[in-house]
Amino acid sequence: MSTELSIHNDFDLSTFNTMGVSSKASHFIEISSVSELQKAVRFAQGKKLDILILGGGSNILFKNDFDGLVIYNALKGRDFLSDTELKIAAGENWHELVLFCVEHGLGGIENLSLIPGSVGAAPIQNIGAYGVELENVFLSLEAFIIDSGELKTFTKDECKFGYRESIFKKELKGKAVITSVTLRLSKDHNVNTSYKALSEKLAEKGISEPDIKDISDCVIEIRQSKLPDPKQIGNTGSFFKNPVISVQHFNQLKSEYPDLPSYPVTERQVKVPAGWLIDKAGWKGRKRGDAGVHTKQALVLVNHGNASGEEIWNLATEICLSIKEKFNISLVPEVNIIG
Ligand code: FAD
Ligand code: EPU
Repeated sequence: MSTELSIHNDFDLSTFNTMGVSSKASHFIEISSVSELQKAVRFAQGKKLDILILGGGSNILFKNDFDGLVIYNALKGRDFLSDTELKIAAGENWHELVLFCVEHGLGGIENLSLIPGSVGAAPIQNIGAYGVELENVFLSLEAFIIDSGELKTFTKDECKFGYRESIFKKELKGKAVITSVTLRLSKDHNVNTSYKALSEKLAEKGISEPDIKDISDCVIEIRQSKLPDPKQIGNTGSFFKNPVISVQHFNQLKSEYPDLPSYPVTERQVKVPAGWLIDKAGWKGRKRGDAGVHTKQALVLVNHGNASGEEIWNLATEICLSIKEKFNISLVPEVNIIG
């Protein structure tokens, strides 16, 4: 073992994942500079250890212990490249960044308020909420390529963003460590109130010309009313992605379930809310031991105390089978499953 690196063995990850499941990493290191990252990667390569990059642990499910090196990203710092271009180190907290931008009159990410986790994980699934996705403000990112050891800049096109997707979940899965993200924000605010729950909340508050702070406050309020706070009850937000189905399939379902909501994707495809499907199938609030379905949002699986990762996974599998049987729709996890 390198004497310069502080590597922990059999490291308990239960406070490093928001589902709060118990899991141990055979090796764990916290890195706060790119050179520490390079050394950590070299250490893992020397020992032929698998590598897992960990941010806030808010989109990950440890089914088992992790046999390999967990690299916990604590890269910090923010740099203005211009009035509106901000380069942020990957270990910064996402929501703190949103609050900083709102406070400094920088528009663009206010709809993404209160999403847990790190800045570096935001591009992995192109985080999105309330009508906005990261790609709408994304300029570029820097990533350390594990095999070659080079630092590479990725433009927006190179990231291949999609709905809860990017190149880092596909071709480059586990192969690149995002070290910083650069966003292009705006001083001429063009607020996005297209999401129904958001426009309804603004109307309820009598706000007809919202500024970015109003948007951020309303999004926070909506989220707090239906999403569980991981500090109080373990969860990873939406467990599954909203499925995209054919218009034909949708029309069949709609004739049977007239209240099925939908969002257009293309002329031939629509997205339907997985939360609605799971709710309709009767899962809301149900439990299997300490693994459960949240009472206010059926798309969120929760840990009521001592559920193991495997128990959460078994519940997820049971839900998938039930949705397939009832609606002929295959749900796909949004959460990254480890082990
Ligand atoms: P982690 O869980 O630590 O990691 C997620 C994945 O990214 C893992 O595969 C990990 O290996 C990889 N990874 C992490 N950092 C890096 C890096 N620097 N380089 C390379 N790979 C990396 N998501 C949304 O999109 N919209 C929402 O509205 C939303 N709401 C949520 C609400 C709650 C209550 C919770 C708990 C989660 C929610 N999420 C939402 C999911 C989650 O917050 C986001 O996916 C977030 O970006 C994850 O960040 P993290 O740092 O916790 O990532
Ligand atoms: N619904 C139900 N029952 C439920 C849950 C939802 O009927 O138990 C219905 C709602 O009434 C609504 C529809 O389903 O008509 C959509 O619900 P909601 O607005 O809560 O959004 P969602 O589709 O469940 C998505 C994202 C969230 C994001 C919100 C707001 C995915 C997988 N999830 O949730 O992201 O915050 O929209 O934009 O796309 C996450 O990714 O972790 C996450 C929380």
